Amino acid sequence: MGERPYSTVDVSSTAFWSLPWTQREDSFARLRADDPVSWQRPADGGLMPVEDDDGFWAVTRHADIQHVSTHPELFCSGRGVQLENVPEMFLEATQSFLAMDAPRHTLLRKLVSSAFTPKQIRTIDAQIRDQAVRIVDDLLATGDCDFARQVSMRLPMWTIYEMVGLPPEQQQPVAEAADLLVSSNDDVVRGDRDPLEVVNEATQTLIVAGLELAEARRSEPTDDLMTNLVQAEVDGATLTDEEISAFFVLLSVAGNDTTRNTISHTMLALQDFPDQRQLLREDFDTHIATALDEFVRWATPVSTFKRTVVCDTEIAGVPVAAGEKVVMMYPSGNRDAAAFDEPMRFDVTRRPNRHVGFGGGGPHFCLGSQLAKTQLRCLVGELVERAPGLRLGEPDYLVSNFVHGVKSLPCTV
Ligand code: HEM
Repeated sequence: MGERPYSTVDVSSTAFWSLPWTQREDSFARLRADDPVSWQRPADGGLMPVEDDDGFWAVTRHADIQHVSTHPELFCSGRGVQLENVPEMFLEATQSFLAMDAPRHTLLRKLVSSAFTPKQIRTIDAQIRDQAVRIVDDLLATGDCDFARQVSMRLPMWTIYEMVGLPPEQQQPVAEAADLLVSSNDDVVRGDRDPLEVVNEATQTLIVAGLELAEARRSEPTDDLMTNLVQAEVDGATLTDEEISAFFVLLSVAGNDTTRNTISHTMLALQDFPDQRQLLREDFDTHIATALDEFVRWATPVSTFKRTVVCDTEIAGVPVAAGEKVVMMYPSGNRDAAAFDEPMRFDVTRRPNRHVGFGGGGPHFCLGSQLAKTQLRCLVGELVERAPGLRLGEPDYLVSNFVHGVKSLPCTV
């Protein structure tokens, strides 16, 4: 197996993930056409070396991403879902049921799903709307600023921590720690520190915040998600501190960076495609449902997730062996012309739009998708309506093979 040649289109290097996304798409397009399930060398930037790691399969076509996602009996999550190699301890402390398989995954997901039902989301809809109004009020009052921080960051952070019950004064530092957890590849963010040190420090901050909150809810229950978690019983036992804090870390990462970056990418797209912005302005209610999916397809804020092959099988005719790693390249799936007409066109009326931004289906499909859409609808609606003079400058993109992030985005109002 060690002698199998690596693909000539390299998606493992930090240099690749430092390119503008349109240039990455050129490489993905070549892979989709010529080598859709390509053998790649181990990714740069892993937090630890793995002696016998000889690489991974990069899955680039839309249909194949769906195949991998919807066959957990062939492609499991329990051995980690990040492209990079991470220490086992880190997996357990941070990824909760994202990196688990049935039956444990099913049980834990069911436990927290009650907070994410359409009925629950409708309950907080009005609060999210109020927050969106406040954020746009502040933007208009502040004037020129960093849009990523002043606008995109605030609504996802407020929403997720309001649901879980984190006091307002802790929200910003905890969200910043969640940010660091996915930014250790970026040498500007990391400075001269070791990536493992950055990640450890951020993990500790999140775990301590999660544990303190759990303790507070045990002694004084309220009606938030953390209270539900500390009171819940799975298989006749309450969740351990480690399980609760790992869930808190998962929620902090999944609920913050994803929606935040989608907001920044969406507002850039609406600036680059003024006709689409005009359509939304003219008839928001007609177009917003299809637009929301296009925002997520366009942004694809999560770039990759990994699975491990359970037993020898094949993907699109390519044999893959038990134990090998398979990485789904979501940005590639979302620009696949076999699944989307004119995939490089941003089209708020696109229908159907079976993007894989929330994953390619199956048991791990994004639990927060409806919540994310509610936030996007409220905030983008306010911005399109009330900030017609908004002008975005040059974005500073995060270097990461995991999150398609916008670190900063200057704006004038
Ligand atoms: C635009 C915003 C978002 C995007 C693009 C996104 C994307 C994703 C993706 C790609 C997955 C993995 C799917 C898979 O492995 O098949 C996922 C899982 C998950 N997401 Fe999201 N997400 C977003 C927002 C949110 C929000 C707001 C929350 C919670 C507040 C959330 C919570 C989760 C959780 C808990 C999982 C793990 C589900 C499981 O393993 O069963 N996400 N998300």
